[in-house]
Amino acid sequence: MRFSILSGAALVSSVYAVGNAIVINKSPSTFYVWSVGDSVGSRQTVVAGGNYSEPLHRAPNAGGIAVKITKTGELSNGVPTQIFSYSLDGANVWYDLSTTFGEPFKGQRITVTSPIGGTIDWPAGSNPGGSQVKVASSEGNVVFTAYAAV
Ligand SMILES: *[C@@H]1O[C@H](CO)[C@@H](O)[C@H](O)[C@H]1NC(C)=O
Repeated sequence: MRFSILSGAALVSSVYAVGNAIVINKSPSTFYVWSVGDSVGSRQTVVAGGNYSEPLHRAPNAGGIAVKITKTGELSNGVPTQIFSYSLDGANVWYDLSTTFGEPFKGQRITVTSPIGGTIDWPAGSNPGGSQVKVASSEGNVVFTAYAAV
């Protein structure tokens, strides 16, 4: 029984290859990342020139994943937080960019891109308005990038 469950899972993962969610720091300063699904993951430090990466996945209960980013090293009420969220939906991944408690990258360009999907572009770190939700094939990476001040 256990064997058949494992071989079924292996088959699924080989048929549906998925990309990664990647956070790239092209700015001169460190920021911090938490991957939030059903619970809050451990704090990841992303130094200037560095990155954070995780395979695109679903949270068993919440479904969608919120990759939360702050500059202070804290994730709590009142701290400006960038939220790069994504949701796997079969062969597609939907992604979105938002903030809470202020805009931590105000004055810096931030983007979310996929080589095979839509681009979200905040040229000065502020929500330009309109729908920010984009979709891509989940086989590609979905990449959040923070640039230096404009
Ligand atoms: C992420 O960082 C690692 C280690 O420095 C590097 O090898 C890799 O190319 C980087 N990935 C991206 C997408 O920038």
